[in-house]
Amino acid sequence: MSLNLNISKKDKIVIFGHKGLIGSAIVEELKHRDYKNLITIDKKKLNLLNYENLKKFFKLKKPNIIIIAAARVGGIHANNIYPFNFLYENTVIQNNIISLSVKFNCKKLIFLGSSCVYPKLWKRPFREEDLSLGKLEKTNEYYAIAKISGLKLCEAYNNQYNKKLPKFITIIPPNLFGSNDNYSSQNSHVLAALLKKFYLAKKRNLKKISIWGTGRPRREFLYSIDAANMIIDIMELSEKYILKYTKGKFSHINIGSGKDYPINTIVSIIKKISGFDGKIEYDQNYPDGVKRKVLNINLLKKLSPKSVDKNIINRKNLVANIEKIYKSLNDEKFEKFEKNNTFNLPV
Ligand SMILES: NC(=O)c1ccc[n+]([C@@H]2O[C@H](COP(=O)([O-])OP(=O)(O)OC[C@H]3O[C@@H](n4cnc5c(N)ncnc54)[C@H](OP(=O)(O)O)[C@@H]3O)[C@@H](O)[C@H]2O)c1
Repeated sequence: MSLNLNISKKDKIVIFGHKGLIGSAIVEELKHRDYKNLITIDKKKLNLLNYENLKKFFKLKKPNIIIIAAARVGGIHANNIYPFNFLYENTVIQNNIISLSVKFNCKKLIFLGSSCVYPKLWKRPFREEDLSLGKLEKTNEYYAIAKISGLKLCEAYNNQYNKKLPKFITIIPPNLFGSNDNYSSQNSHVLAALLKKFYLAKKRNLKKISIWGTGRPRREFLYSIDAANMIIDIMELSEKYILKYTKGKFSHINIGSGKDYPINTIVSIIKKISGFDGKIEYDQNYPDGVKRKVLNINLLKKLSPKSVDKNIINRKNLVANIEKIYKSLNDEKFEKFEKNNTFNLPV
């Protein structure tokens, strides 16, 4: 492993999306590692869709390192109803930030991608090289196209201006869960939705829980704090060292545990944690989606073996972290997300 000597604990690091699931975990872990100049700003004060205001912010703060964890994020339902927002908002947010990071000569940028950039029908775990080799999943196609566009913009910058040195890097995580997850009825992801379902069933003394699909599809889950650590580990690596492995062919890196579980296993884990003793029904009127979605993390293992420490990324810890999040749930958390759940026309 070879560290980036250009990065120091005094660098001015902006974390866009610092209140979100992964953004908040990154802030926590950067503090933990003693980074001293962290810059965050609320959406109310700076809407990232507004280029001119964002430019003023860059001029004023002069950041060195940029982390883009701000995005329009949502589940299948929201992606289906609001394709315009998912494509438009994400491309504008990332184009604004990436272009200004170039203009203001930022030395490092981390862009958060998503596993939906990979082909829908794929037999093996997704490798970085598998991008663009097949058709995208229809349910979140517009979101995926925005993410591919951001990923390619980072790659193009490295190719055109940095002799392929990956100064701007896209990180691709699997499904995440953790504190500050989104529990809204329209925007939540699978694990948050399951936790909420069990929490409410237990509270309301329900006798039955209905789960969408067969429960058989396999998914990979990563705790947001583990993801944040992997992201910072990659941020701290020397670009020449990364280039040795990517050979300038791409500028994105998968993170994860490399392990996937059937949804019904995750359901059993949450059932046990919650103490729910009613019936569980799998409603096969709802689609399963792709059968298996897991990322190949061989590149991460080579680049940063400590990131995938088997004492941390294992089933026991997955269960412990799910339990920690379940125990932190309360009604206000759910209400907050319903209030913030708005989709606007362009500003
Ligand atoms: N969650 C996952 O399972 C997962 C998995 C793989 C990849 N990722 C990627 O990680 C990134 C972050 O995801 P997340 O789950 O952390 O999302 P999140 O919890 O919804 O957080 C997104 C953040 O972006 C902010 N934001 C959105 N639009 C904005 C705007 N116009 N101006 C300023 N701020 C804005 C939100 O602010 P408000 O809350 O104020 O709206 C929120 O703080 C995304 O790129 C996503 O693709 C997530």
